[in-house]
Amino acid sequence: MTIISLPGGSSEYLGGGSGYDGGRKITYFSNSYVLGLTLVAGFGGLLFGYDTGVISGAILYIRDEFEAVDQSSFLQETIVSMALVGAIIGAAAGGWINDTYGRKRATLLADVIFIIGSLGMAAAPDPYVLIFGRFLVGLGIGTASVTAPMYIAEASPSEIRGGLVSTNVLMITGGQFLSYLVNLAFTEVPGTWRWMLGVSAVPAVMQFVLMLFLPESPRWLYMKKSKAEAIVVLSKIYDPFRLEEEIDQLASTLEEERLRKNAVSYWDVIIVKEVRLAFLAGAGLQAFQQFTGINTVMYYSPTIVQMAGFNSNRLALLLSLIVALMNAIGTVLGIYLIDMYGRRKLALSSLSGVIVSLVLISVAFIMGSSGSTQGYYGWIAVFGLALYIAFFAPGMGPVPWTVNSEIYSQSYRGICGGLSATVNWVSNLIVAQTFLSIADAVGTGPTFLILAAIAVVAFVFVMVYIPETKGLSFEEVENIWKERARSSNSNKEPLLEHGR
Ligand code: BGC
Repeated sequence: MTIISLPGGSSEYLGGGSGYDGGRKITYFSNSYVLGLTLVAGFGGLLFGYDTGVISGAILYIRDEFEAVDQSSFLQETIVSMALVGAIIGAAAGGWINDTYGRKRATLLADVIFIIGSLGMAAAPDPYVLIFGRFLVGLGIGTASVTAPMYIAEASPSEIRGGLVSTNVLMITGGQFLSYLVNLAFTEVPGTWRWMLGVSAVPAVMQFVLMLFLPESPRWLYMKKSKAEAIVVLSKIYDPFRLEEEIDQLASTLEEERLRKNAVSYWDVIIVKEVRLAFLAGAGLQAFQQFTGINTVMYYSPTIVQMAGFNSNRLALLLSLIVALMNAIGTVLGIYLIDMYGRRKLALSSLSGVIVSLVLISVAFIMGSSGSTQGYYGWIAVFGLALYIAFFAPGMGPVPWTVNSEIYSQSYRGICGGLSATVNWVSNLIVAQTFLSIADAVGTGPTFLILAAIAVVAFVFVMVYIPETKGLSFEEVENIWKERARSSNSNKEPLLEHGR
């Protein structure tokens, strides 16, 4: 199989999986087995989206019920952010669980922890049980955030891998939209929050049951358990010609694994050059996804709308619902584009739009704060928010998750995917916890300008460092890092040249 590099860092894939499966073009809908598996795995994304979104509405009713919570902003913040803390730990441990026990058992475990957590929250007699329930739910979400993309990627033909992994992101954004609908629909009936939080046990139970009928990831099976079982699964995904090709590639990966002298460890992420280079790409993308401000928009859009001078609560909530809907629709566009134009083009065009929108929002806030035309600038800020989502959703939403599911070698996919998902969750927590205080300290306009500056750095990072992985097999992607490590060692070619 041949990979040629093109100027600007992209690689074109010639031969091998050319998009045809025994003469039949492989499309997103062409294999119902893989699509079904993707949707079941994607319940993990649904839980991720729903639970991170619903708490902003539920907390209002929790305050009504527990006086201690109402009187302490510390308790309120702890209830909200405990799920993120759990997710950080769940993602870090989830990678290892995935490598050691497989993707299927990792998913089942995440479901069990999640179900206990959400039922615990629904029945919580006091705020402390509620906080513990949020922590468990976070552990489940964090583990699922590593597992679902990896499980989907390993079962996907390379031509449609991006779209299928991005389907999990659609489940995240769909789950967020659903949670905002729930937040808006429920009125202040005491006890309502118990339903709001407890109901997410239902998709977790559904996923647990459906997963029992799905196979372990064929790649994990081949490397860790049974070649025969792996081949049975692979034969449901590929036609005989492609099947043989896939098995050949897996056989050589297994051989390399055997030749490795030391066992895989977390330290290798720092010590082994090609692992480190890949991890920097994956973790960098995850950090930039969060530091370009998506969750300030998701969590604070009503507040931002009010900061822009609109005082109606209803309008603010309605606008946040529209933002969530646009985000979900934009993800569908991403599913369509990611395997057509590739990860780099999508991320770069997404970031360009994000930079323009952030500058627009910033200017609207800065100009609006100093004059009689505040209403006019308020509308510009709201328009900027909409533009931001329209550009972010198809690109910087799905690309980091997709790239992380495909850039690591078989032996490090769990560890590195888990660590970089941890980077995503830690960055999420930092941004969510600091946005309002930074806005208080330096002003809302300058805060958005800071996000815009980060987005410029992100653009340069993608431009020079992220390789194009569209259509490549896992083995071909692995070779990119080996090549980079080799060329930077021999100093013949500067590492960052052409993003390859
Ligand atoms: C991110 C989440 C974010 C969501 C919204 C996901 O890709 O990881 O943190 O809330 O997108 O679009």
